[in-house]
Amino acid sequence: MNERHALATARLDLVPTEPGYAERTWTHLSDERMWRFFPAMRPPTIEALRLRYERFAHPMPYLGAPERWENWICIRREDEAAVGEAQATYAGASCYLAYGVFPAFQRQGFAREAMSAVLRHAHDVHRSRVAIAEMAASNAASIGVARALGLVHVKSKPGEHVGYDGTVSVYRLQLRPSA
Ligand SMILES: CC(C)(COP(=O)(O)OP(=O)(O)OC[C@H]1O[C@@H](n2cnc3c(N)ncnc32)[C@H](O)[C@@H]1OP(=O)(O)O)[C@@H](O)C(=O)NCCC(=O)NCCS
Repeated sequence: MNERHALATARLDLVPTEPGYAERTWTHLSDERMWRFFPAMRPPTIEALRLRYERFAHPMPYLGAPERWENWICIRREDEAAVGEAQATYAGASCYLAYGVFPAFQRQGFAREAMSAVLRHAHDVHRSRVAIAEMAASNAASIGVARALGLVHVKSKPGEHVGYDGTVSVYRLQLRPSA
């Protein structure tokens, strides 16, 4: 299933990422606060961001197998402000979550709201049975989101990805229809 799906929540429209969104998100993604925990993933230029979005717009292999991923830009419906990004990578029965909310919009429940919709979508459409989130063990905000979604800590492991120093925390949730 390589179709890309738009999602909606009470306040947000999650629209599949397209290269044209780089113009709107670059202001926020050029802010170093977005990259504190993974500086190596920071796009150096708006053109690099646009190329990343072009890759996001296609199904792609991930984690060494033919998994697919979906990426969304989170748009606040009332004023069409881009407030953040969401990602789901589907690998067998598992769904790996990633999220970012831009500094001006943080601590307003947007990550929780967006990722709740992603979890429902992963369960209902992609038949995911388990959701997994990995983050730097010191990333309190990301851990806050995982916990708010009902994920629980299952293990810690040495950082193995570029940009993760130290320890990575792994959070997991068994998905049910009401997720
Ligand atoms: C992590 C991030 C997405 C959180 O987005 P957000 O929209 O501010 O999060 P929410 O407002 O939905 O908060 C969700 C929960 O996390 C908690 N939380 C959010 N930021 C927090 C922080 N800095 N410290 C502790 N808890 C925090 C909230 O209190 C909330 O818990 P609650 O629902 O029990 O009250 C955002 O801080 C971010 O993009 N950071 C930079 C990029 C990043 O680290 N992404 C994650 C990579 S793994």
